[in-house]
Amino acid sequence: CGIVGYIGHREAYPVIIKGLTRLEYRGYDSAGVVLFDGDELKLSKTKGKVSDLTAKAESEISLTGNIGIGHTRWATHGVPNDVNSHPHYSNSGNLAIVHNGIIENYEPLKKELIKRGYTFHSDTDTEVLVNLIEDVKKTHNLKLGKAVQIALNQVVGAYAIAVFDKERPREIVAARLGSPLAIGIGKDEFFVASDASPFIEYTSNAIYLEDEEMAVIRLHKPIKIRKIKDDSLVDPYVQELQMNLEQIEKDGYDHFMLKEIYQQPEAIKDTYRGRLHANEGLIRMAGVEDNLQRFLNADRILIVACGTSWHAGLVAEYIFEEFTRVPVEVEYASEFRYRNPVIRENDVVIAISQSGETADTLAAIKLAKDHGAFVFGVCNVVGSSISRETHAGAYTHAGPEIGVASTKAFTTQITVLALIALRLAQAKGTVTNSDFHRHLQELELIPEKVEKALETNDVAETIAGIYKDAPNCLYLGRGFNFPVALEGALKLKEISYIHAEGYPAAEMKHGPIALIDEQMPVVVIAQKQEHYDKIVSNIQEIKSRSGKIIAVVTKGDTQVRELADHVIEIPKTVDALSPLLTTIPLQLLSYHIAVMRGCNVDQPRNLAKSVTVE
Ligand code: G6P
Repeated sequence: CGIVGYIGHREAYPVIIKGLTRLEYRGYDSAGVVLFDGDELKLSKTKGKVSDLTAKAESEISLTGNIGIGHTRWATHGVPNDVNSHPHYSNSGNLAIVHNGIIENYEPLKKELIKRGYTFHSDTDTEVLVNLIEDVKKTHNLKLGKAVQIALNQVVGAYAIAVFDKERPREIVAARLGSPLAIGIGKDEFFVASDASPFIEYTSNAIYLEDEEMAVIRLHKPIKIRKIKDDSLVDPYVQELQMNLEQIEKDGYDHFMLKEIYQQPEAIKDTYRGRLHANEGLIRMAGVEDNLQRFLNADRILIVACGTSWHAGLVAEYIFEEFTRVPVEVEYASEFRYRNPVIRENDVVIAISQSGETADTLAAIKLAKDHGAFVFGVCNVVGSSISRETHAGAYTHAGPEIGVASTKAFTTQITVLALIALRLAQAKGTVTNSDFHRHLQELELIPEKVEKALETNDVAETIAGIYKDAPNCLYLGRGFNFPVALEGALKLKEISYIHAEGYPAAEMKHGPIALIDEQMPVVVIAQKQEHYDKIVSNIQEIKSRSGKIIAVVTKGDTQVRELADHVIEIPKTVDALSPLLTTIPLQLLSYHIAVMRGCNVDQPRNLAKSVTVE
């Protein structure tokens, strides 16, 4: 979910609505806003998107007021409907709250509040929280900040909240545990938001709250930040933001996803810039160098991640084992955290996350740290929870990724992980000098080759037109490109709602081959590389069962061309780096299919960009 709050001299409504639109990638099944004009609180909320909210708000409330809070929701408790949308009022109607996260012990709290005479209108845990705050406030006759603090000490779960009290109209109270929250500091105005994008055009000064911190934000007063548990004051650390507005807008592309697909050459370059020195035969990454011994002592590397980041982890497994000869295991963070895994002190755990906020990945990191492992983060969002929770890390410098389906985050994650693997292999002596240099040089050429791979856009669009109505689709790849098959299938599922599965090509004969008939499109990553002959045989197996073959081949390939119904040609590179190229046409293919099916590409149904709940 996304939170936006404003207090200052401007009209709050347009600031909040624009901010919510930028945060819609975090959730978009309902939205709401509450405004205060010095007199009364005005609330409008609805199931649906921010555009539904504006239509409703503009017809039902007056939009004036210099203070307000808004929310865009991804449902956890209670189905998406008008009543369950945020903000929520307390029973007296004096307090309004917006909340991300889950209050796990909301049931006993709710029972107790009902006993004390409170009534509830929604099914949400949030309404319980706002009434708990009200109850504490009234019972002990406290100011809002203190009441929020005491109430949060009774809560089990995760949250980012912004609360407003009609009786203290120049103040917003914000707090976080597990869900991100940033405070923008302007001249005589403050912003509160789940990330900095809602206030970037007003100020570049921001404070990121840490877990278990709360802030009392008052107009014309310095911000007070406290630890929720022990009440100690924290010195606010004001950061200067580097993001700019242009980076978060669409730049003339129809969708953020398409823009982000096309940004990949630059994003990959930004990711290796200053780290890769191909001519000198050097890789320099501070997070790796500072902890080199820790990496070299590792008997094993564990990778934890979710979704697309997990696929990048699988590619990394192949690259790490190939070059460093250290065994690697890749785990779904959600499984790892709950299955009592074996974690040893000299394990190195690499956590991969675009947002740096994924709750399951964060929990897996905490577990690994509790067992004494060294945890290294690969995140895209600077200052995110995972980047702060890990012992060390390396950022992917992909820039903000807004499209829910991850594209440039994936390729930049692979870039960072390949750099780490090659650096470790060099230090360990498990790669020959010539191989090492060849891979560095190839990596440097990848942005240009991605540029070429993007030229497959028209072919991808034509193929999309032919298969857009297929109910199913199979993706096959081998070796380094097996995880790319999984990722290709995930992309198609996510944005076009076509059922798709990725498989190692040779595994097809153990099951999925039964699905193949003349209706079934099969996307095969058939690069001219090791095991090429094997993949050609797999293609023959599909062909003899009348399956339709869409092959991603290496430029100049003739053998597969003869067998396949369609070919998409991409430049040649070394095997280990080929996922950076083979992924591109698969992204484009799913993009065009989704557009042709009339799907909402940037905000697919039921998904959220940043899943801060488990
Ligand atoms: C969500 C997104 C996916 C993403 C996954 C992991 O499910 O919809 O696109 O891959 O979370 O996110 P992370 O930010 O940890 O990479």
